[in-house]
Amino acid sequence: MANKKFTVSSFLKAKQKGEKISMLTAYDYSTAKLLDEAGVDSLLVGDSLGMVMLGYENTLQVTVDDIIHHCRAVARGAKRAMVIGDMPFLSYHVSIEDTIRNAGRIIQEGNAHAVKLEGCMEVIDKIKAIVKAQIPVMGHLGLTPQSINVFGGFKVQGKTEKQAKRIIEEALMLQEAGVFAVVLECVPEKLARIITEKLDIPTIGIGAGKYCDGQVLVTQDMLGMYTDFTPKFVKKYASLCEDIKNATQNYIKEMKEGIFPSDEHTFGIDESILEKLY
Ligand code: KIV
Repeated sequence: MANKKFTVSSFLKAKQKGEKISMLTAYDYSTAKLLDEAGVDSLLVGDSLGMVMLGYENTLQVTVDDIIHHCRAVARGAKRAMVIGDMPFLSYHVSIEDTIRNAGRIIQEGNAHAVKLEGCMEVIDKIKAIVKAQIPVMGHLGLTPQSINVFGGFKVQGKTEKQAKRIIEEALMLQEAGVFAVVLECVPEKLARIITEKLDIPTIGIGAGKYCDGQVLVTQDMLGMYTDFTPKFVKKYASLCEDIKNATQNYIKEMKEGIFPSDEHTFGIDESILEKLY
């Protein structure tokens, strides 16, 4: 793993060289630091933080201030990885002026290197305006969780000819608008393959199969820490849920039994001083 910073041009170079791009979500300093040290290429401060960090039912309540708060922490922990801040629901829908201000705040106050936003046709004028403002944009197509109320739940997208053709058209439209990469979420593997082959910019899959140019997962899912809901596409590389519960039970037990804290974790004082304290 090279130490050179991963940037927008690294995304494009990786696609040209056929090297896969790794991406994970991060929401805090210490996790970002660990993931960065482990060599992940990019850290996404996703609005999934609403569910995994804040306990909301979906992502719709997340605000620009929430994203900025978490981006700042992640940016302090990421030395090599490129930090991408998600634009939350309604932060890029109202007006172009509002959109540029919100994207700009995520870069300026959140210290992110790029923003990500969901959808295409309905917000294409906003996407072009952010790109024009010199802010790198990552697109997001397929299952776009901010539209959950329109989809009627977390469902695979692009299974019908009409839906699939629309996603292909939108991917090409996003590329034309100047985005540097596109997340494809919950679409059939072979549709993701067609899109990946048609685009010059990289596709980053989540529930979109192995042909994408890179993959992203929610870190808490990948580490087995978030158990409220586990989508089919998640592979758990650890069971931190069990580890955290076991460690906590051990701590409670040892503390109650007087095993912890032991001498090893305790500070001493000189006996001559101690005598004068009684
Ligand atoms: O919010 C998020 O974490 C995301 C990823 C799942 C792509 O958008």
